[in-house]
Amino acid sequence: MANKASDGRLAVVTGGGRGIGEAIARQLAAQGLRVVVADIDGANATRVADSLGSPHVGRTVDVADERAVDSLFDEIEESVGPVAVLVCVAGLLILPGGERPMIKDMTLDTWERSFAVNTRGAFLCSRAYLQRREAANVEHGRVVFFGSVAAQLGGYRSSAAYIGAKSAVHGYAKAFAREAAHLGITSNVIAPGLIDTEMLRSTVTSSGALASVAQNIPLGRVGSVDDVAAAVCYLVSPAASYITGDVIDVNGGYRMQ
Ligand SMILES: NC(=O)c1ccc[n+]([C@@H]2O[C@H](COP(=O)([O-])OP(=O)(O)OC[C@H]3O[C@@H](n4cnc5c(N)ncnc54)[C@H](O)[C@@H]3O)[C@@H](O)[C@H]2O)c1
Repeated sequence: MANKASDGRLAVVTGGGRGIGEAIARQLAAQGLRVVVADIDGANATRVADSLGSPHVGRTVDVADERAVDSLFDEIEESVGPVAVLVCVAGLLILPGGERPMIKDMTLDTWERSFAVNTRGAFLCSRAYLQRREAANVEHGRVVFFGSVAAQLGGYRSSAAYIGAKSAVHGYAKAFAREAAHLGITSNVIAPGLIDTEMLRSTVTSSGALASVAQNIPLGRVGSVDDVAAAVCYLVSPAASYITGDVIDVNGGYRMQ
């Protein structure tokens, strides 16, 4: 289990305004970390941070926007403190008309936007973090990226653009792990399976369809946001200091290696 952090490390959780990111923000706060909830939906980021209370804060950011990401890190480091933990949860699955777009019909815009949020966003946030820790390091630095079981299996419900973008994250996190290792910073990927959020529900047509999805999961249920947040809490804990460049599956046995 995660160690209760006594050092009040500062964590930035992108995509923290709802779903898995919100659960991570809540569990990290419960573990004693100070949390910056960052989301393109600023109202949701503020809602989550306000419900956590002081010293947690909400910020609006589009992770695909280089200037916005760099400004966010400048402002946080100046007014809140050095970021020890970065959790890149912000993600986007584009299903035009609610349907999985086939490659033969896929627009360049769908492809580019999928990579902009899922991949470029992870790069921009982690680059901003690494630049600042190279200049002034902090103890127990941690980066957690979000991939997907879709990248491991080829995906049944998501799109090729999303699968390609998440596959890039799986590889990028290993490169990041090598380049951050001299600072004692670890870098790992969480690959969620089927987790009950608005993103998953956008891929199924009814709650009956969600129940039938669960039949293919050995543990017999779709995962919860707290299942995923618990794994993140462990990865960012001081106890996980020797785990880096890894992919942690949180999928109820949906994919076993
Ligand atoms: N739910 C699943 O079954 C599942 C499975 C595998 C991987 N994932 C991944 O887990 C992560 C969380 O998924 P979720 O189900 O909670 O998704 P979600 O859609 O419920 O939440 C995503 C959050 O990211 C934010 N976001 C989107 N674009 C952004 C941007 N450009 N900048 C900043 N914030 C942005 C959204 O506003 C939202 O708050 C994502 O990276 C997703 O791809 C989810």
